[in-house]
Amino acid sequence: MFGNQEPEYKQLFINNEEWIQEKLAKDPNYFVKHAESQSPEFLWIGCSDSRVPPQEICKTKKGMIFEQRNIANMVVHTDLNVMSVLQYAVEVLKVKHIIVCGHYGCGGVLAAMTKNNHGLVNKWLLNIKDIYVNHKAELSQIEDLSLRADRLVELNVIEQVYNLTKTSIVQKAWKERHLNIHGWVYDMKTGRIKDLDVLKDEITDIDEIYWYK
Ligand code: CO
Repeated sequence: MFGNQEPEYKQLFINNEEWIQEKLAKDPNYFVKHAESQSPEFLWIGCSDSRVPPQEICKTKKGMIFEQRNIANMVVHTDLNVMSVLQYAVEVLKVKHIIVCGHYGCGGVLAAMTKNNHGLVNKWLLNIKDIYVNHKAELSQIEDLSLRADRLVELNVIEQVYNLTKTSIVQKAWKERHLNIHGWVYDMKTGRIKDLDVLKDEITDIDEIYWYK
């Protein structure tokens, strides 16, 4: 179909077999143990970007991070996917931490800053355009466009953290137990994660209209 070359995806099966053998060499019960159950401490809401794999950049073991990744690490209340992941992670898995992690150079954020028509994804990126408009006074002061984009990446993470606090899922959990929410940004050029210190001790400055009884 693609000429005489082996399709590239076949390499993934070769890698998979190598990985299985590596794991079994160290521990013959490795897969049996992992298949039993999961109790991850972290819910990671990150970008789909292939360069930001949470397990690798945080050097965590399998089973520690429950993941939701989408374009530009958004927490959109009408998105059934992110809301279902959130509810399951908080209410069933009882994660201790939720991390929203953006990254500098995010294609989704950069696209939202332009007037380019990207089709369906416009609907998703509209949420970022709204954040841009809400912070236009600050952003327009930053003349360098890539620095302006970096700041919008941060503002987007902060907004998504607040979006989490506006869900009845998080609010209900806060009435019952400790649940930490973090806003981070990953710098692809250095590999370093920066904590934006968005929420302190579960106190938020969202308007009271967002709080459910
Ligand atoms: Co991105």
